[in-house]
Amino acid sequence: MAILKIARMGHPLLKQVAEAVSDPRAPEIGMLVEDMIDTLADAAGAGLAAPQVHVPLRLVMFHVSAARAQREDGEEAEACPFTVLINPEIELFGEGMTESLESCLSMPGLAGTVPRYSHIRYRGIDHLGALIEREARGFHARVVQHECDHLDGILYPMRMRDLSTLTFTSELSLAPPEEAEEAEEAEEDDS
Ligand code: NI
Repeated sequence: MAILKIARMGHPLLKQVAEAVSDPRAPEIGMLVEDMIDTLADAAGAGLAAPQVHVPLRLVMFHVSAARAQREDGEEAEACPFTVLINPEIELFGEGMTESLESCLSMPGLAGTVPRYSHIRYRGIDHLGALIEREARGFHARVVQHECDHLDGILYPMRMRDLSTLTFTSELSLAPPEEAEEAEEAEEDDS
């Protein structure tokens, strides 16, 4: 068990395409997963990708609590259990996109409005060898796209359409109540 150091924007590892994991059930992958779980819990994030802890492999983990899904998507809320996804693939259902505030553990203190596909299917394998295949909508789909982008060297500002929405979350706390609430959530759920 260990809390790993999280790479920040500008670190070369965050810009490169990560390599496929050849044996998802290898002991060293299990150890990496354990350490990443500790790291994500310590940072109170929604998701984490291996390159963020300086390991250039195609492995991500994420979770969406019922409360978080409800805040993001209201009646459409879709929670997701804690999931480890190795060598993930994403398939789109249509071109529909949704814009929402996002933040990232590799860019602490910042948030910005990012378009993401609203409805996806993803598949991969976990570190116990189980095949995972799910449809995802809303915030669940957003988190998966954000984490998988890390495997291709993409940080959320590279997806933004309007860079003027990039902001320090501490500034958002001075905004009108509704936006301030979003900022608080962004800080709680960095990914
Ligand atoms: Ni991130």
